Amino acid sequence: MKLHSMWQEYPALQADLSASLQLMEKSLKLKNKEVEQAILSMIHSGGKLLRPAYQLLFSAYGSDKDREKAVALAASIEMLHTASLIHDDIVDHADTRRKLPTIRSEFGNDVAVYAGDYLFVCCFKLMADYASSMKSLQMNSRSMEKILAGELGQMSKRYDLSVTVEDYLENIRGKTAELFALSCFIGAYESGTSLRFANQAREIGEAIGLAFQIMDDVLDYSQDAAALGKPVLEDVRQGVYSLPLLMALKSDRQQLLPLLEKQDAMTDTDTHEVYRIVQESAGIEEAKKLAADYTKKALQAIQKLPETKDETKTYLYQITAQILGRQN
Ligand code: IPE
Ligand code: IPE
Ligand code: MG
Ligand code: MG
Repeated sequence: MKLHSMWQEYPALQADLSASLQLMEKSLKLKNKEVEQAILSMIHSGGKLLRPAYQLLFSAYGSDKDREKAVALAASIEMLHTASLIHDDIVDHADTRRKLPTIRSEFGNDVAVYAGDYLFVCCFKLMADYASSMKSLQMNSRSMEKILAGELGQMSKRYDLSVTVEDYLENIRGKTAELFALSCFIGAYESGTSLRFANQAREIGEAIGLAFQIMDDVLDYSQDAAALGKPVLEDVRQGVYSLPLLMALKSDRQQLLPLLEKQDAMTDTDTHEVYRIVQESAGIEEAKKLAADYTKKALQAIQKLPETKDETKTYLYQITAQILGRQN
């Protein structure tokens, strides 16, 4: 199976990620061929596999070297991520993802809901089959709860012009950083590290996830949809005010308010005007700076991790630094 090109530099990790994708595919057992086809198309659509990669890298820190288990738990995490993307595209009315039509646009909302539901089930089945204790299952359910809380927090603040940077950070901590945190935690904990080490891994994952989502929101204002492979302009149309816009609101409030106050009556011209103002403001640079701060925090914590016999620590460092510079 062809993986995202970023893994070419890391052959051992690439092989494990490929095995995880194959296991995801093998785990699907559905009578409904449409839902199965929808899930298969997502598995083959070239996601970056960042969360399972972190899970696999942290699994090198424990004494348990069970590759089959690490690969299965990585597949479980990627299933959770895939389910959340399929459902997210319904909520966000998105037509493209990974440069391809979304499940909801190709197969319809019903299939997309069931495809996401089934992937949640598969995620728990794999986790229950391979996890060493209830602790990991508990962590998994708590993370799902936090992801949902982040999404609901974002929804409840739609079109709210008093939304703060703190509100934004709280929501992305849930909707995105939590899954990175869980991946790092499970990778470490299930390989037999101490709980203390697994919690350190969790914190690193959280900082990475915060940087990752901020950069994703920066790209929304600085890249076109073709380069990103998913829609741009959609957040602001739907009243989701992400960090670049929140920062721009501090300096260019008077220009932005009359446009944003139109809420869902904003025309395409209005939306483009909002984008132009944000691009010309310091909002994008300020958001990038905050992402750089979280990345620095993660990199410093990675540097303090114990040395590994293999390249794990170097890889963790390189991949984390690379995420900040990503263009899509
Ligand atoms: C997309 O995550 C959702 C966000 C949290 C921004 P990724 O950019 O990791 O998605 P894929 O799996 O690589 O498509
Ligand atoms: C990503 O949400 C977080 C989840 C899927 C839970 P977004 O809506 O911000 O991400 P993209 O831009 O669609 O990938
Ligand atoms: Mg969304
Ligand atoms: Mg979305």
